[in-house]
Amino acid sequence: MSTGKSALPPHPPGDEPVPVPIWETWFSAYPHATYCAMREHQGSLVPVEIAPGVEADLVLDHEIARLILPDDDHYRVDPRRWQDSVASDCPALPVLSWRPDALRSDSTEHTRYRRAVTDSLKDIDQYALSRMAETTAKALINQFCTAGAADLLHEYAIPLTVTVLDSVLGLAPAPAQQAFTATAALYDSLDPAAAHQLLIEAMQEAVEIKRTHRGADVATSLLAHPSDLSTVEVAHTLAMLYSLGTELTWNLICITLAETITADLAAQPLSTRELIDEALFNNPPLAIANPRFPRGIQPLPSMTLQPHRPVLISLAAANQSVQGDRTGNRSHLGWGAGPHECPAQSEALLIAGEGVSQLIDALPEIALAIPADQLQWRPNPFRRALKAFPVTFPPSPPLPLT
Ligand code: HEM
Repeated sequence: MSTGKSALPPHPPGDEPVPVPIWETWFSAYPHATYCAMREHQGSLVPVEIAPGVEADLVLDHEIARLILPDDDHYRVDPRRWQDSVASDCPALPVLSWRPDALRSDSTEHTRYRRAVTDSLKDIDQYALSRMAETTAKALINQFCTAGAADLLHEYAIPLTVTVLDSVLGLAPAPAQQAFTATAALYDSLDPAAAHQLLIEAMQEAVEIKRTHRGADVATSLLAHPSDLSTVEVAHTLAMLYSLGTELTWNLICITLAETITADLAAQPLSTRELIDEALFNNPPLAIANPRFPRGIQPLPSMTLQPHRPVLISLAAANQSVQGDRTGNRSHLGWGAGPHECPAQSEALLIAGEGVSQLIDALPEIALAIPADQLQWRPNPFRRALKAFPVTFPPSPPLPLT
């Protein structure tokens, strides 16, 4: 896939670097070229703006990312010290503010939330999950395979992921519908504070229903967990699992399929897992990790970080610096690293793996409906997400559903 050209203005030697406004749409259109230009002009730590007037430092280097991500002695993910220092109308607050969940907690609080998540994920029947992903994928393919054309984002990756996640998490139909509406609004960056509130309310309703309708699902396991999470904490944890689990997984399916089609990788002897790892190297769906906040002045090789100023780790840029043959190489940071590394990799890989392999098996002659450099990406520097994924293929008969 073409990564295009960056509009980054060259930074005149000797001048103070001007923060690069990564919230502007051109950044999401050309992130790879922009990372290269940033590295060339400013090195591996670059001041950026995450919203108009809101500054942060962006890390582009694999080695430095590997130093910071595991180091919770020197870096917090809890944003409250930073949050207290910015104006109440700071435009980054709705997206970055604190929540009672694993992603935004440190130390013992983090351990408590994370244990509840990892133990609940362990209760998932992996065989049943894989079967559900397979049958859902085939049923979706049957809805468009005779047409010869489809938008694989909206007709395939999104409904596949959402159907499977609703079931795994144990969401009743009404809160599941509301959670999807909220996620779509978050996705479109329409009033993120209101959209997140809608998502939390959906999960609170899901929890209330679950108290009287227990099942073999994550919500039931969270409610029964010895960490004794409150209703609000279970709702926030479900909201975090839903918003990471749906969007990142559907984007991983689309990015893997898009790279496989454009580079004709399906013709090469690569396993589905290798195709997915290649996508995680080139275009990790979580392009920039959750911000870290240095607890004090933090010296690093050739740079110093300021206390409480957000540090963004570009997983995508860090991966760019890994050279050589990547076959079988999983040194990418697509799942993060350290105490907050994605705890749901095997579940995400099962869903994405079925999504990718069923589609390639059913429609091997699939092609992009537009040139790769005309694919449109959502204007969000943190997430790598297509706006649509139009493809064509020779019309094919429906698959048998067993
Ligand atoms: C079933 C699907 C998924 C679920 C339920 C899930 C859940 C989670 C959770 C709960 C965390 C936070 C863990 C913590 O803070 O202790 C997390 C972190 C993370 N997830 Fe996932 N995830 C899923 C899929 C994915 C996918 C498809 C990707 C991308 C390929 C991904 C990438 C990450 C990354 C990079 C982090 C670390 C974030 C950071 O360090 O700031 N996840 N995930």
